[in-house]
Amino acid sequence: MTIKKIMLLVAMNKEAQPIIKKMNMREIEHKMDSQLPAFAFEADMDKGKLILVVSGKCTIHEVDRIGTQGLNLVAWEALKFFKPDILINPGTAGGFKKNGSMPGDIFVSTDSIKYHDRLFHPDMHFLNYGIGSFKCAPIPFIAKRLGLKEGVVSTGASLLSSQQENEQMVKNKAAAKDMEAAGIAEVAQMRGVPFIALKIITDLVDTDDCPQNQFTNNFDKLITHLADKVQALCTILMGEQLEKISELSISHDDVLKHKIS
Ligand code: ADE
Repeated sequence: MTIKKIMLLVAMNKEAQPIIKKMNMREIEHKMDSQLPAFAFEADMDKGKLILVVSGKCTIHEVDRIGTQGLNLVAWEALKFFKPDILINPGTAGGFKKNGSMPGDIFVSTDSIKYHDRLFHPDMHFLNYGIGSFKCAPIPFIAKRLGLKEGVVSTGASLLSSQQENEQMVKNKAAAKDMEAAGIAEVAQMRGVPFIALKIITDLVDTDDCPQNQFTNNFDKLITHLADKVQALCTILMGEQLEKISELSISHDDVLKHKIS
């Protein structure tokens, strides 16, 4: 199947804005459930359509509806309504100094997307359900060409983490700690849509510096780099055969031809 429609699903408005600007997107009217505060944008690319859906604001607390609970509802509705060929979740994540990560590194999900905060130990019945291990589409050659790191994205509901969650992240072999990917990946898997998480590291979670402060201090200077890679990735994927993206390797000439930054 040829990829003709790519959907981006983003948690925070300020993560979405640089992508909207870079890809020249316009806001569109949509018929997703009107009780969801989500909003949508589109752009025509050479070989197909790009849709971006943003989670929207919590009407009670007037902040973006970040996190798995907010995003998996929106994912369900947006996948049903827009019917994309592939779904990408660009966003921010915490990284690990012990793995050599730095703020600004961009990871693409590999292996599977796991939860680290749905823990039941010592009960074994729900153990694997809790961890999730949802599918993601591997793109090793594209990742290499675009200078993306590959790794397991591990999801939890909080920016901070408990001792038990830290232990589960080790078991998950987490490379990027986020707050949405697993919730979205589960919905994508249920609906049979291939899924990729693309996460820029804004903070290191295994240092003495508070991750929340690092996130706040680094966000503005890093977030446009994520938009650059979103553009490059969508430009490469659009028009390609979905079944072949794991083998897709692009040459330097292709990079120039696709005008990828
Ligand atoms: N997004 C950015 N930094 C994060 C962190 N440390 N944990 C979860 N999500 C994040």
